[in-house]
Amino acid sequence: MGRLSGKVAIITGAAQGMGESHAKTFVEEGAKVILTDINDTAGQALADSLGENAMFIHHDVTSYEGWQNVLREGEARFGTVNVLVNNAGVIGKLANTIELEPDDYHFVCNINQTGVFYGMQVVIPSMQKAGGGSIVNVSSIAGMLANYGSPNIAYVGSKFAVRGMTKQVAVEFGPQNIRCNSIHPGYINTPMMAAATDAEGGEALSMIPLGRLADPREVSNLAIFLASDESSYISGMEHVIDGAMTAG
Ligand SMILES: NC(=O)c1ccc[n+]([C@@H]2O[C@H](COP(=O)([O-])OP(=O)(O)OC[C@H]3O[C@@H](n4cnc5c(N)ncnc54)[C@H](O)[C@@H]3O)[C@@H](O)[C@H]2O)c1
Repeated sequence: MGRLSGKVAIITGAAQGMGESHAKTFVEEGAKVILTDINDTAGQALADSLGENAMFIHHDVTSYEGWQNVLREGEARFGTVNVLVNNAGVIGKLANTIELEPDDYHFVCNINQTGVFYGMQVVIPSMQKAGGGSIVNVSSIAGMLANYGSPNIAYVGSKFAVRGMTKQVAVEFGPQNIRCNSIHPGYINTPMMAAATDAEGGEALSMIPLGRLADPREVSNLAIFLASDESSYISGMEHVIDGAMTAG
């Protein structure tokens, strides 16, 4: 039996990067997984490669109707949903706070913050029907501390918001056996990070005591733990995974 046997999980932003890794490892651990993304080609190909316990649904997390459609189609195929991994996210434009265009600010917040709210609002009723569930919201170390080198008030603000919404939901829905935790990755080796570290000229490595970027699977191990019953008394907390980058 896998660590996620009996789980039905929605994973957003599952076409590449950490979401892709979460989808693969969740299926390996026995979950039925609903992969969603705006990248249909990669998302569908990944779901096809994972077999009958995976399905892909086109989904922009900023669309409320999109969320309702994901839940409807996902429940029809796999039954009530008891795990939600709100992983989809964007960095957006790097600009200092007085130069960032309002549209660029809202673009990031709509995906990183509003998308997480919509997801929890739409999926929690399915968890209530299921008798409980676990929500894993992907924030960032930028949800713990401000950025020095690359100012990004929209990213930092939205990732702090994810951390706060996580605690609110943990408190509100704990009595119904619904747990909610946030993950705060440091520098993880994904397409998003490749772009960001190029922009920083590779300086990030010198700030990481473990001396390397993480493999996405190392974050998936944390997501599996939080999604599984192994973490049955852990809720409302931040889980930083950053190679000790923010420890000093
Ligand atoms: N890579 C890192 O080092 C790092 C560090 C901290 C936090 N994070 C967070 O982890 C999460 C995953 O990051 P990643 O590095 O795997 O990113 P990535 O860019 O490699 O993958 C993100 C995925 O989200 C999808 N996506 C983008 N906008 C979407 C939308 N509106 N609706 C649905 N899907 C959408 C993309 O198509 C892509 O498949 C993000 O929330 C990110 O902010 C990443």
